[in-house]
Amino acid sequence: MKSLISLKYLIVLLFFAEAINPPTAVLDLSEKFLDVKDEGMWFVEFYAPWCAHCKRLHPVWDQVGHALSDSNLPIRVGKLDCTRFPAVANKLSIQGYPTIMFFRNGHAIDYRGGREKESLVSFAKRCAAPIIEAVKENQLGKIKLSARSQPSFVFFGDSSGPLFDAFSDAANAKFSVARFYSVSPSENESTLRQRVVVYKDNMEIEFNGEMSTLKDWVTRERWPGFLQATSSNLAEMGASGKLIVLIVSSESQKFNATSPVRELHKIAEESSNEMRKHPALWNRFQFAWLDGSDLASQIQMATVSESHLFIFNYTSYEYYLSEDEPGQMTIKSILTFLEQTADAIDKGTVIAFGGRHLLTRMKRMVFELYWNIAQMFATQPLLSSCLFGVPIAFLSIICYSICSADFTVDRDEFYGDEDEILDEEEGDELDNSEIDENHEKAE
Ligand SMILES: *[C@@H]1O[C@H](CO)[C@@H](O)[C@H](O)[C@H]1NC(C)=O
Ligand SMILES: *[C@@H]1O[C@H](CO)[C@@H](O)[C@H](O)[C@H]1NC(C)=O
Ligand SMILES: *[C@@H]1O[C@H](CO)[C@@H](O)[C@H](O)[C@H]1NC(C)=O
Repeated sequence: MKSLISLKYLIVLLFFAEAINPPTAVLDLSEKFLDVKDEGMWFVEFYAPWCAHCKRLHPVWDQVGHALSDSNLPIRVGKLDCTRFPAVANKLSIQGYPTIMFFRNGHAIDYRGGREKESLVSFAKRCAAPIIEAVKENQLGKIKLSARSQPSFVFFGDSSGPLFDAFSDAANAKFSVARFYSVSPSENESTLRQRVVVYKDNMEIEFNGEMSTLKDWVTRERWPGFLQATSSNLAEMGASGKLIVLIVSSESQKFNATSPVRELHKIAEESSNEMRKHPALWNRFQFAWLDGSDLASQIQMATVSESHLFIFNYTSYEYYLSEDEPGQMTIKSILTFLEQTADAIDKGTVIAFGGRHLLTRMKRMVFELYWNIAQMFATQPLLSSCLFGVPIAFLSIICYSICSADFTVDRDEFYGDEDEILDEEEGDELDNSEIDENHEKAE
């Protein structure tokens, strides 16, 4: 017996040695983090031990720690158990788990992207980069090229004065989501006119509003004109204060010449370019496309087909539909639809679907449950059939045996003997046989 117990201990010890062994670049933080968070740069995961998403993130987080320590950037990577240190979670108003934040000299930036190592690392690197990178004029070509995937904001002229201060302010607020550069005049040129431009969609767009609106302008212009919407960037797109014109498209079909998806995709892209000429629409709408109809179906709580267009308000979760069939839509009809919807919203005559009312939220929950189960059957029919079939079969058998069992004991006969049973507290099989006898007699 003794040897068995010591064997158990040995196994436990071995297990722990195994678990402790791999060195980690991730610091285990405690309440003391609150004292040091304003010093330098921190990349921190706030988690709870019971949360399944956190458990999935942990190995990735370890890799992020290694990648960032290899990169020699002065970023410290940590994780903090919020159930052990609730004071920290309170102070930083952490709502859900896992929450990922980057701290740069006291500025806290929420991370909202995907949970893959690559996007986490590139986010941290972006947060750690100089906020405004000074470049030479001959580097602009490269910047324009990289601006195809992510818009770049460039300041031209002497780095001083109120316009530069406004630009710095905007950059400080948005450096985690866009890139900011400054180009100073070269020796030959005595002065370079001060201006701010954004490079995106193969275009150069100059800022020409009031200086105080520069930050809002950056918030609005930080997305390409027509980008892919995912469940993770939809929230931030909504935060830009624009309504989102969503196209249900598909990664695999958007270049398929015979597919109706391609036609709508192309028209939507051209509409977004055309919309530039209409500032009122431009300031109000953002075009985006979805890969597949899942997200759209969840928003609309109905099965949506590919090649479909609707306007979506992320804040209110309301959506607006056009009367035109997707196949008949043209650039002109789409822009007219946007104009009419904007008009109707202003006048309060618009018909909105969806929303965030309690009833709608409940309906959405039920729909999502139904949707997920349907998806399971569609992707893994065999597994799903077993998963749902076996319990349902058991339940049916139980129901069947309960329903078909004979419980029709005559009430009088049974309760007539009640006193007798109560009298004989110790009564055992005898009582039962007596009841049975009575029961039989009754029949
Ligand atoms: C600036 O001056 C140098 C020589 O002084 C000349 O080679 C160069 O082309 C000039 N650049 C511009 C943009 O004028
Ligand atoms: C979305 O709806 C909310 C509530 O109705 C409204 O306040 C907000 O302005 C709308 N967003 C846009 C971009 O129109
Ligand atoms: C292209 O679209 C047509 C019509 O929707 C479809 O039948 C075909 O399979 C698609 N081709 C590819 C390569 O997906």
